[in-house]
Amino acid sequence: MKIRCGSNQRLFLILLSITLLRSVLLRSATAVCDLSVFDSKNLYSYSLASPIPKFPHGVLSEDGFYRVEVNKSVLWFQLCNGMIFNHGPPRCVDCTDCGGPSNCGMQCSALVANDVGGYPVCTTVGHLSSSNISIADETNPHSGVIVKMFSINQNVDDKVVNCSLSVTVLCDYTGAQGPHTLKKSGACDYDTLLKHPSGCANVVYIHGRGWGWFGTFLIIMLSLLAGYLLAGAVYRYFVLRIHSIDAIPNLEFWASLPHRTQSSLASLVRKFRGPSEGYRSSYSPVNF
Ligand SMILES: *[C@@H]1O[C@H](CO)[C@@H](O)[C@H](O)[C@H]1NC(C)=O
Ligand SMILES: *[C@@H]1O[C@H](CO)[C@@H](O)[C@H](O)[C@H]1NC(C)=O
Ligand SMILES: *[C@@H]1O[C@H](CO)[C@@H](O)[C@H](O)[C@H]1NC(C)=O
Repeated sequence: MKIRCGSNQRLFLILLSITLLRSVLLRSATAVCDLSVFDSKNLYSYSLASPIPKFPHGVLSEDGFYRVEVNKSVLWFQLCNGMIFNHGPPRCVDCTDCGGPSNCGMQCSALVANDVGGYPVCTTVGHLSSSNISIADETNPHSGVIVKMFSINQNVDDKVVNCSLSVTVLCDYTGAQGPHTLKKSGACDYDTLLKHPSGCANVVYIHGRGWGWFGTFLIIMLSLLAGYLLAGAVYRYFVLRIHSIDAIPNLEFWASLPHRTQSSLASLVRKFRGPSEGYRSSYSPVNF
């Protein structure tokens, strides 16, 4: 039979490729805001950009940006993505590597405007491509995370420096708050803080529970088997008066166990591989 690639199939293939490409792109875009850490008992995973109830975009600002203003300095930033301005775009001079004067802010993920002699002067402080996520408080994985963004070789006060913005996202199940504060340290390093339910970890118990349940089950099964063998052997020895190794119940079965296991495994392997030559039905059935 020949398969003709009609327009329907072609459309299907195109749609399939777009879907695959989209999922790959989405994954790489959100990976900057995913974090998983283990301790001895749990796996804590954060996914800041994932939808949660009331926040379809996770921690991302629905406006396309967050804004915080302190001492005539204004900071704009977006988490897990670049900034988008549908309203209130930054107005400052020297917006070179953040989108230029007409698209200021659109090509970076954090921008600060400082007052220099009465004029707001722009400095890019963060790029999406160079950002970093870590646990806010190493001793308490429930605390939240810190997203850090960097931008290298910026001109600040006629000096070439590196800039950064650290956004602490504290876990708060009650809702989103902030950012209200902006701290500056060094020449061009900024800190701000917001509270958001997206900063809360999903906790998966990996130790204790899973293996504990299975371990208990295994011990019960082995105890039952041992009890059965012992009772059977005692009965056969004293009541049936079988005074040889045959006193062990179902001896034939136990003796054949290794061979049985081997053949069941082999048939399982065959099943997974599928019939490679001819049809399965032409074989004689395996007797167990
Ligand atoms: C990213 O964060 C980790 C953990 O806080 C740190 O060790 C690492 O140096 C950071 N990367 C950069 C580029 O700063
Ligand atoms: C800025 O960062 C770059 C790359 O990480 C480094 O080579 C350079 O020395 C840094 N500059 C300053 C002033 O710290
Ligand atoms: C704002 O001013 C206070 C006090 O002068 C200073 O400690 C703080 O670092 C300033 N903040 C920024 C973001 O410049």
